[in-house]
Amino acid sequence: MKKLVFSGIQPSGIVHIGNYLGALRGWVALQETHECLYSIVDLHAITVAQRPDELRAQIRQTAALCLAVGVDPARSILFAQSDVSEHAELAWILNCHTYMGELRRMTQFKDKAGKDQEGSSVGLFDYPILMASDILLYGTHAVPVGDDQRQHLELTREIARRFNNLYGDIFVVPEAIVPKAGARVMGLDDPSKKMSKSAASAANYIALSDCDEAIRKKIKAAVTDSGHDIVYDEAHKPALANLLTIYSLTVSKTIKELEVQYQGQGYAGFKQGLGGALCDFIRPIRERLEDWAARRDDLERILQEGAERARALARPRLQTIKDKLGLGVRNTEKV
Ligand code: AMP
Ligand code: TRP
Repeated sequence: MKKLVFSGIQPSGIVHIGNYLGALRGWVALQETHECLYSIVDLHAITVAQRPDELRAQIRQTAALCLAVGVDPARSILFAQSDVSEHAELAWILNCHTYMGELRRMTQFKDKAGKDQEGSSVGLFDYPILMASDILLYGTHAVPVGDDQRQHLELTREIARRFNNLYGDIFVVPEAIVPKAGARVMGLDDPSKKMSKSAASAANYIALSDCDEAIRKKIKAAVTDSGHDIVYDEAHKPALANLLTIYSLTVSKTIKELEVQYQGQGYAGFKQGLGGALCDFIRPIRERLEDWAARRDDLERILQEGAERARALARPRLQTIKDKLGLGVRNTEKV
């Protein structure tokens, strides 16, 4: 039997080149070898305020983006998290087996809550448990994610081991699959912080929906380091190192090859090349995205079918977990 992959993406409606290189690229590749479940995690999205009409449109848009990059609904299960209520139910069970101190250490919570931890929702604090639930519910073996999710994966593994010690073998202890290059793409306007769709300025990221003109403009405006040689040096030239990584992964050339190609050309020539390469890389994705985005009925059907398939896997697994914990009055011997 094929091993199982699970991953999730928040329905923000924008998917950037960091999401693609860090995670989605892996989602698509793993379909060749694994049984894959990919979820638009709308319950995670409401840990911060959302407008209901926008949220639903963004779920569809994010699904369209997944399909445009190559998630294949004939092979993989693509669904909206809240359509499978078992995720939330298992999250409650996991909540009761996780410590406040463990969640307090999560750097994503600290980043997102900022100085106002007391004023952030309990959901934002609890976010990693819902993520653990997404993963553990299905008996997932592998989780393709970017570098920023490593700590959440570690917590998930810890919870799985804790459960198995308490109740016998219930959960598979999952592995994170983090790519060697591209796992942490940095912001174009500030290479000290990761590229993020919630950044204050759209100049921070290249979205997979950006048009050629926007891509060229953003690359041209991207922050660079002092000097003008095209050499990879993460410590002294972090901005250029980031651009070289993006370039190398989108044209499938090594960084060495790019250094040779751009020797003596300075940043202007390099940026022009990178802008053009990114336009060529994103154009077909954007065209497929526009195509999918116009097919609302098909998108909804794919997500509904995905949810049904996910539910069929989730329901019996959750029942087994509840039985092991002694929940409810179901007599397991009769089943
Ligand atoms: P999110 O958009 O936060 O739901 O993230 C979706 C996936 O993209 C997760 O696996 C993240 O780890 C990954 N990701 C987000 N931002 C970046 C980035 N700047 N570089 C690489 N991967 C990223
Ligand atoms: N927390 C992830 C992010 O922000 C999204 C996510 C939710 C996820 N559930 C998941 C990723 C399960 C992998 C597996 O990027």
